[in-house]
Amino acid sequence: MIAAHYIAVEEEASMKNPKTILITGASSGIGESLALHYAGGGATLFLCGRNAERLNAVAQACSDLGANVHQAVQDVADQTSMRAWIDGCDETAPLDLVIANAGVGIREAEVGIEAAARDTFAINVDGVFNTVFPAVDRMRSRNRGQIAIVASLAAYVPSPGTGAYAASKAAVKSYGEALRGTLEPEGIEVSVINPGFVKSRMTDRNDHAMPFKWPGEKAARVIAHRLAKNKGRISFPWPMVALVWTLRALPMGVIDFISRRIPRD
Ligand SMILES: NC(=O)c1ccc[n+]([C@@H]2O[C@H](COP(=O)([O-])OP(=O)(O)OC[C@H]3O[C@@H](n4cnc5c(N)ncnc54)[C@H](OP(=O)(O)O)[C@@H]3O)[C@@H](O)[C@H]2O)c1
Repeated sequence: MIAAHYIAVEEEASMKNPKTILITGASSGIGESLALHYAGGGATLFLCGRNAERLNAVAQACSDLGANVHQAVQDVADQTSMRAWIDGCDETAPLDLVIANAGVGIREAEVGIEAAARDTFAINVDGVFNTVFPAVDRMRSRNRGQIAIVASLAAYVPSPGTGAYAASKAAVKSYGEALRGTLEPEGIEVSVINPGFVKSRMTDRNDHAMPFKWPGEKAARVIAHRLAKNKGRISFPWPMVALVWTLRALPMGVIDFISRRIPRD
């Protein structure tokens, strides 16, 4: 009875204070800020990205903060190697928290609508699946763990030129919200994160206005705090949340009117 109590307390503690964390897309931006945030708590971190130089720099910074870091140059679009990598990480140290963060914003104006759609979905949707499914398989075997999927407030407001990005984020947002209920009975928590604008390599390329843009450290702090509370939908900052919900309520004719006046990238 007492032993059962301690096991329950320990299990709850691992969700509120995860010690073994896997983050995709940790070589810059929000993923980097999350890695640094959790590193401060002395976690074991498994980090991936495609750019070895940037990834190694983040891994070193996390190590300097006291984390035990394992980094891997890994493309989230590669289903087979993602499963092998995640299986290996979980065997090294059972994963408490897996954050499917890697994502791209590919511009239709640069590559055309077909390449933008296919390449964006390969990373932002299949890449999330390639992260989530192997992690869930491992967590199911012990009936505990937490999955976080980084979507976007863009999921709510598709706009000309960024349709593939918005659609990819809408897909993982919807999927993640439903998966939360599917996996709850098995003791696995699922959250969807919808950032507004956050400083990153992705947003550094934008030359349009980015109202209420947050620094990465602030985003990481808020995300970690709300994940610890097992919030299902983590959206910020609130003025952008209010704005996208308002835009979403508009009739399509009004959306068309606004769309025609939005400058294209
Ligand atoms: N910043 C924002 O305002 C904002 C708002 C809403 C949602 N988001 C989402 O937040 C996530 C992080 O983006 P960010 O803004 O922090 O941009 P970022 O600085 O460009 O970071 C993107 C990260 O994803 C990695 N990545 C991209 N494609 C990958 C692939 N195929 N395999 C493995 N890693 C890959 C990048 O690593 P490499 O460069 O090393 O490949 C990088 O570490 C994305 O899902 C993005 O859609 C961002």
